[in-house]
Amino acid sequence: MKASAVANSNIALVKYWGKRDERLILPQNGSISMTTEGMSTHTTVEFDSRYRRDVIILNGKELEESETKEEIVRQMGNIRNHAGSKERAKVMSFNNFPTGAGLASSASGIAALTAAACEALGLRLNGKELSILARLGSGSACRSIYGGFVEWLRGSREDGKDSYAKQLAAETHWPDFRMVVAVTSKREKKVRSRMGMKASVETSAFYKGWLDSVEEDLDSVRKGILKKDFREVGETAEHNCLKMHSIMLAAKPSILYWLPSTVEIMRNVHEWRENGLECYFTIDAGPQVKLICLEKDIPAIQERLKSIKGVEDMIFTKPGQGAGVTEDHLF
Ligand code: PMV
Repeated sequence: MKASAVANSNIALVKYWGKRDERLILPQNGSISMTTEGMSTHTTVEFDSRYRRDVIILNGKELEESETKEEIVRQMGNIRNHAGSKERAKVMSFNNFPTGAGLASSASGIAALTAAACEALGLRLNGKELSILARLGSGSACRSIYGGFVEWLRGSREDGKDSYAKQLAAETHWPDFRMVVAVTSKREKKVRSRMGMKASVETSAFYKGWLDSVEEDLDSVRKGILKKDFREVGETAEHNCLKMHSIMLAAKPSILYWLPSTVEIMRNVHEWRENGLECYFTIDAGPQVKLICLEKDIPAIQERLKSIKGVEDMIFTKPGQGAGVTEDHLF
């Protein structure tokens, strides 16, 4: 009863921000993302009666009681429920990028965990079922089941059976589409997205404006991806991200994920664009900036980012594959 899986993370072009059901993780709005090649989690799960409780080893260290551990054990419970199993497990997992710093490690982590655990328990789920199960662990994880460009459908049912991800276009669809992650801090963030969303829905005067305008953003990015219209996708993604952060700034108390270097990059991107270098940014619940660009502009962007104070690292990514099982076990 041992299996392993690898899943890539994903970065949203139209963000999921706000839940309408906290327990089932049902979103207030649909979202669209790119699955990120090479930013991945590799996980092995073994169910065995010799384990008295779930043992979770993340990046080489056994997890103590923490929110991350709770999240993983809760998801193991969701998967056991689905399979009608009571068996506990050992879980070993490695992320090849910083954990918990707004780089969507929960998306790749929960997607890999769900794919590996289902395989270990002999559950034969199709993509839609796997996506629904992954969603119960972490919303954005439901999108990492698929590769390329992915849309998470909001759905309207109370039981969540119509809230799952589907592929909009495969990873081969837009060969020169790129993202560059400018890492400005590798520290774990203080306000997890779960809390940030809750505060936004409950206290931000701008939240209604978000819901009123998000369908338009979804339409634009969906069409832009299918037509490979870079400006359409970039402009809307940047606008959508700024709306999400405006909601947070106006929450009570206010939530601010940006560092001075985050803002410095944002200003630079605007200036580069005025001078003919077409790239856009998106920022999640953390201080990192994800630059959306085309392959031909990577050398220029890399050179310019190097000269910005506070850029600690860069990660280059493009549309990648969805989650998959592997024979490569970690123990
Ligand atoms: O699924 P979570 O709880 O990691 O939340 C993801 C939230 C954002 O990254 C900010 C937006 C998104 O759609 O990925």
